[in-house]
Amino acid sequence: MLPVLNSALLSGLPPDASVLDVGCGGGHLLLQSAEAHPSMRLTGVDLDRSQVARAKSRSQHLKRRLDVAVASALELPYEEAVFYAVVSIASIKHWPDPAGGMREILRVLRPGGRLYVVEVFAECTIEDVSAFLSTLPVPRWLQPVVAPQMRKLLQTGWTFQAAEALARELGIVDATVERPEGPPAIALSGAKPR
Ligand SMILES: C[S@@+](CC[C@H](N)C(=O)[O-])C[C@H]1O[C@@H](n2cnc3c(N)ncnc32)[C@H](O)[C@@H]1O
Repeated sequence: MLPVLNSALLSGLPPDASVLDVGCGGGHLLLQSAEAHPSMRLTGVDLDRSQVARAKSRSQHLKRRLDVAVASALELPYEEAVFYAVVSIASIKHWPDPAGGMREILRVLRPGGRLYVVEVFAECTIEDVSAFLSTLPVPRWLQPVVAPQMRKLLQTGWTFQAAEALARELGIVDATVERPEGPPAIALSGAKPR
């Protein structure tokens, strides 16, 4: 959904680092990451079987490095401390227990491993939405119709307070909550304590 490839996060990792995308959907981020970081070990999970099938079929030519599975964020099918980084884009608001999913992310991260969780921003203004729409192939005349509807949908997203409270509750180190440039989104980044 969001054109967010956190190259700063990925480029700081060892070339063959293991990275997990939780709620990977059709695998856009994994595929972009595979192109930019050819030896990285990339894994994705999504609850939706059809999305996982799409991600798998798109990544057939990369099959040896891309491992996509059907699984819930609340029950990640991995051992403890196996990933250098975990990303999740526009998925956490769908999890029945966001804190439980974040605890799972911390469980599978190595000590010091980085997390980057992005969700749509609940408090964005109509101007934020209009600016984002103008970067998409939406006809100009349609934008004033689409913008209020999109803003209403985004209200189910994350707030600064919610993301910061979660980071505090879970003891995430170096936690930063910010608006990434471009999409009407909010991002929590940080690390698992060593
Ligand atoms: C808006 S899509 C975003 C997909 C992808 N991250 C992207 O940016 O294109 C949200 C995804 O989260 C998945 N999802 C929802 N609840 C989930 C859960 N509990 N565990 C894992 N994935 C979940 C959905 O199936 C869906 O593919």
